[in-house]
Parts: sequence; structure tokens; C-alpha cells
Amino acid sequence: MTVELKTTYLGLELKSPIVASPSPLTGNVDSAAKLDQAGVGAIVLPSLFEEEILAEDSELNRSLDQGTNSFAESLDYFPALQSVEGVGDQYLANLETIKKRVSVPVIASLNAASTGGWIKYAKRIQDAGADALELNLYRVAADPARSAADLEANDVELVAAVRAAVGIPLAVKLSPYYTAIAGFAAQVVKGGANGLVLFNRFYQPDLDLDTLEVANRIELSAPWELRLPLRWTAILRPQLGKGVSLAATSGIRSGTDALKVLMVGADVAMITSEILRKGPDHVRTVETEMRAWMTEHEYVSVEQLRGSASRAAVADPSAFERGNYFQTIRSWSGSAE
Ligand SMILES: Cc1cc2nc3c(=O)[nH]c(=O)nc-3n(C[C@H](O)[C@H](O)[C@H](O)COP(=O)(O)O)c2cc1C
Repeated sequence: MTVELKTTYLGLELKSPIVASPSPLTGNVDSAAKLDQAGVGAIVLPSLFEEEILAEDSELNRSLDQGTNSFAESLDYFPALQSVEGVGDQYLANLETIKKRVSVPVIASLNAASTGGWIKYAKRIQDAGADALELNLYRVAADPARSAADLEANDVELVAAVRAAVGIPLAVKLSPYYTAIAGFAAQVVKGGANGLVLFNRFYQPDLDLDTLEVANRIELSAPWELRLPLRWTAILRPQLGKGVSLAATSGIRSGTDALKVLMVGADVAMITSEILRKGPDHVRTVETEMRAWMTEHEYVSVEQLRGSASRAAVADPSAFERGNYFQTIRSWSGSAE
């Protein structure tokens, strides 16, 4: 029996539901090509950060101002400035190169916290050939003067501004820390998102006791992190309906992990940490495991199994989830010594 792995994500036909989520590997032409050969359905590039674009723009303005003040013939400066390749230009050039090199859709990523002039980059990304855009909403809500409602309205406005700038499919990578995530997810979709990526992983800074400085160390994910996207994919799938794409990211390492998120309704399973640990060829292992499990359990396609275990049948998901919590707490069977 042949097993069909193809799926649809953001309106794109993908040959596999295994997607390489943003990491240094997806931003490198050679490793992106290896991921393609290993069988990924799509590649999401590392994010271009709002701060990088703003820093570049202010640097450009400073240079222009300096030129204007010092020399009457300041227009002579334009050709020189245009030849300076900034972070944004490098990103676009890299996107074009990777696009030419791989056979699968390439999704670009913007990381942002506020609306602003930098949004023009969404359009530039589209013009450079991205098949879709992932907007990574990342903020730490540490301002005591700003309410949850205020911050959420700001985020929806940002999604709408990016939506207005581009016609390509738009996914929004969410933080798991919104208070009422189901309501917020619905607003993001209303704001123009074609899909949601569950979830952004926040990296908590450490403290170096010798230097008393903040130590930023990136940790690869652990298997238990899969539980959060698994739960929320199951809850959101029936609420958002089939027209909205869902991607699960965090803690997916194996074929069985990928099958779990697809079963609860994800369209794609994204992997970063395990590919960083084991290399691009790990994608082949994941897909082989998926095929073997599906054959054994008589599933002929991802389409057939997708969503078969979502919360659609449960009238009140919040009561269901509280019941789960209660039973989980009571499930501890170790010793209390
Ligand atoms: C080294 C590294 C770099 C990453 N860079 C980005 C990035 O630029 N943009 C982004 O949205 N996510 C980024 N991520 C997050 C991953 O795309 C992914 O969502 C997260 O690691 C959870 O998936 P995993 O458990 O498979 O690692 C990065 C993760 C790692 C480990």
C-alpha cells in the first residue's frame, strides 16, 4: 500500500506535511537544498527582524543627513549609498537564491512587535518571490501601563497592516501567552491571517553569576514541549474551520510526534531542533516512520487521518480541558518521600 503524505498549507500544495521551521539551516542555501532533497514539504526562512530593518533605515537616514549638511552636491551620495547592501537587501537576495535552488515552497518570515514604515519589507519579500509570509509576533508584555486588550489590539492591527501590504498567503506565529488565546486566534484570522503557527518559543534569559550579566543561551526544545501545540491545535481546529491553516511547532522530533499533531488537526508539522541535532537527513527518518505507522494502521493518506482526534465532538472544550487537568494531577504514581 502506498501512503500519500501530501497536504495543503496556506493554499500551497505540499508534497509532505513535514516543514523545516526557521533556523540557521533554513537560511543557508546548501542546507536548504539538503532539506529539500531529504523531503520537506516547505522551508521557512529565519526571521528578518523589525529592529534590523529600523536600524538599517536610521543608519541610511543619518548618512543622507550628513551628506546634505556637508556638501552642496549631496545628490552625488545616492549611487554610493544604494550600492551598500544592508540586512534587508541581504535577506531578499538570500530568499531569491534559495528560491532558485529548491523545488519546494519557500516561506519568508518577519519578526515584529509594532506597525511602522518597515512593513514595506513585506511587499519586498513578496516581490522577491516568497510563496508565503510568516509573521512572527514576539513581545514581552512588561509595561504595566498596557493592558492585555491594548496589546492584542496592537497585534491585530499589525497583522492587518501586513495583510494590506501583500497578496501572498500570510501565517501568523503566535505566542502561547495570550490570556484568551481562542478569542485572539479568531481576531488574527479576521485581521487577514490565512493560517496560524502554534507556537512561538520564548527564550528566557539566564544570569551569569560571575559577570552578573544576562546570558542569552538558546536551548533546543525538549519532547514535553509538544504538549502545548498539541492541545491548542486540537482546540482551535474545529473552532477555526478547515479554511484556516494550522502549523504545529515545538517538540516535534519523530514520525509519531508529527502524526499526533496531524491527528488533532494540524496541516503541517514543523521541525527545527531535531533537524539541528541530527541534520537535514532526519526528515527522511521522520517520513519513513510516518509511512510505517500509517500502513500498519491502514491510513492511506494524511488527508484521511488529519483531524480525526480533534476536540470537535466535545461541546465545551474548556470543561474537557479542566477535567484533563484534574485527572493529570491525580495521575502521579510516584512516591511522595
Ligand atoms: C537556532 C534557532 C534559531 C531560530 N530562529 C528562528 C527565527 O528566526 N524565526 C522564528 O520564527 N523562529 C525561530 N526559531 C524557532 C523555531 O523555528 C521553532 O519554532 C522552535 O525551535 C520550536 O520548534 P522545535 O521544537 O522543532 O525546535 C529558531 C530556533 C532555533 C533553535
